[in-house]
Order: sequence, then structure tokens, then C-alpha cells
Amino acid sequence: MTTKFTWYGHAALGLETGGYKLLIDPFFSGNPAASTSAEAVEADFILVSHGHGDHVGDTVSIAKRTGATVISNFEIADWFAEKQGLPKTHGQHIGGGFKHPFGYLKLTLALHGSALPDGSNGGNPAGFLLTTNDGKKIYMAQDTGLFGDMKLIGEEGLDLAVIPIGDNYTMGPADALRAVKLLEPKVVVPIHYNTWDLIAQDANAWAERVEKETKTKAVVLKPGESYSL
Ligand code: NI
Ligand code: MN
Repeated sequence: MTTKFTWYGHAALGLETGGYKLLIDPFFSGNPAASTSAEAVEADFILVSHGHGDHVGDTVSIAKRTGATVISNFEIADWFAEKQGLPKTHGQHIGGGFKHPFGYLKLTLALHGSALPDGSNGGNPAGFLLTTNDGKKIYMAQDTGLFGDMKLIGEEGLDLAVIPIGDNYTMGPADALRAVKLLEPKVVVPIHYNTWDLIAQDANAWAERVEKETKTKAVVLKPGESYSL
């Protein structure tokens, strides 16, 4: 079974695994780095890491069109159900895992904010640790600063880690390199950079440092490109 990971630009990700299509933080409308559109993507499940507009993105319109189930923390799942009228939501919380059809999904710690676009309480921000049905481990940190418990996440044995390097709102390149040393994934993909000038970074220079200082393979994608594992 192949799992295909796609970076759509910013923190918008796609995963195809075991016949299921997942979107993570599907921010396309108003995203200058987006490689596709809210009208073009398909989804069976949408994962939302926190309440900020560049992560909630087009979740509502995509879920309404595709019938996808939206998975997030309890507060955000409730907001999608009660305030946005989405019929299929699933709330979890940090440290809690659930066996979905596409695999076992656990919400992880993230150091960040989570207010929703209308000012509602978006609970606590999260990352995602997915164990696919054939046992691949994929950690999608989404928006976070560096934290020492990344070591605990790494102890699960990561096939792929997806981490921010943009700085200003999240880890920058130096802390993201330290994150790789804690996570020790087989492969790392950088995200949440170059969307705007404020988070412009040289991802290739960062990838060179990762490969010089760790055993991890760094894969720099262009928006729209995929990596299969
Ligand atoms: Ni954010
Ligand atoms: Mn963000």
C-alpha cells in the first residue's frame, strides 16, 4: 500500500492512503502559494489543526461539496457543526487517538494559538500523528514552536515528519533543525514558508543542513508536488 503525500503550498497538505483522500488545513482561496483550488480538490476527510484562517481555509465549502468528515479538536469540530452547519464532524483532543477508516489518528501538542476567524474559542492547537493501516507513521506538526516533547513523538518511529520552517509565526529554520534532531524521522518535508515575504526562507539551504547534521532525508517540494512512501 502506497501513501502519497502532497504539499499544496503553505500548510495545506494532501494524503492518499488505502483508497481514502485526506486534506489537512485546506487553505486555497487567498493563499498566494496555493497550487490548486477549493473547487478542484477531492476529500473523504478534512483535518484542521487549529482555528486560524490560514488553516480553517476552505474547509466549509469543500466539506459541503464533497461530504467529507471534518476532524479537529472538540471546540473546532463543534464550531463546524453548530456555526457552519457541517453534518459530519469528529472532535478529538491532544493525546487522544481514534481509529478512523484511513488509520489511527492522534492529536499532538502544538505551541501556538487557535482563535477561530469569527473570534470563537478554537480550543488548543494541535498537530497530527497518523498511523496508516499498513503501519506507516506520519507526523504533521502544522503550526508550532519547538518543544522538547517532540522527542516523545519521535519515539513512535516516524517514516515522515512535516514541519514548519517559516519563522515569525512558527519555528524558523534553526529550531526546525533542532526539531528534526528530536523527531529523528526517516524523511522530513518543510512547510509554512514562502507564502508571504514575512515567512520567506531558503528551504534548499535548510535541507542541506538537515542532511549534513542528521540521518534524516530532507525532501523539498514545490507546491503541488508529491512524495510517496
Ligand atoms: Ni496559525
Ligand atoms: Mn499558519
